[in-house]
Amino acid sequence: MFAVIEGIEGSGKSTLQAGVAEALRARGRSVITTREPGGSPLGDAIRALFLAPGPAIDPVAEAMLVNAARAQHIATLIRPALQRGEIVLCDRFVDSTLAYQGYGRGLDLAMLRSLCALAVGTLVADMTIVLDCDPSLSRRRLAERGLAHDRLEGENVDFYERVRGGFLAIARESERHVVLDAGDPRDALVAAALAAIEGVEARA
Ligand code: TMP
Repeated sequence: MFAVIEGIEGSGKSTLQAGVAEALRARGRSVITTREPGGSPLGDAIRALFLAPGPAIDPVAEAMLVNAARAQHIATLIRPALQRGEIVLCDRFVDSTLAYQGYGRGLDLAMLRSLCALAVGTLVADMTIVLDCDPSLSRRRLAERGLAHDRLEGENVDFYERVRGGFLAIARESERHVVLDAGDPRDALVAAALAAIEGVEARA
């Protein structure tokens, strides 16, 4: 089972990922949690470059960086884990490229899909949970965290509205996506995500 969690920054992806992983492990399941960009030494190095505050990175370069990290992540961590029968819970995947570099930055979606296809080969997420989050809630949560802002967190609200709309548009056209309200309580989100994952497993 390859399950992905998507949403803008501050939508609660990592909290949900941790809650779902804990619940699945409590049921005796073997779970790997990972994230993009990241998931390998090369991916972590690319993540650091990608997020470092500094001069703007060209959108095509952004798309290539995340896909380079993705190809390595899949080859060295995701595919081997799936072959061992483990559940992989991944914080972001291809939809983030479509939402950020496509809907957010304005790159052509068909071109991005081809680039992502090169990185992922035949791998598709069995299911994707989209944490739908109002950018103002996201801003509030990021400010509460008091963490240094990275390069993308400095983008304006319009950018995040486009990215949010992108996630929703992708979800509308897919039967593998479940949209949850990021403002719901953590326990309710974990329960809904678990039910969705188990529903997909039962149908497999
Ligand atoms: P986060 O996962 O910690 O929220 O941060 C990762 C950042 O990278 C976030 O701003 C979204 C961005 N990103 C892209 O722009 N495109 C991608 O394909 C991925 C995976 C992430």
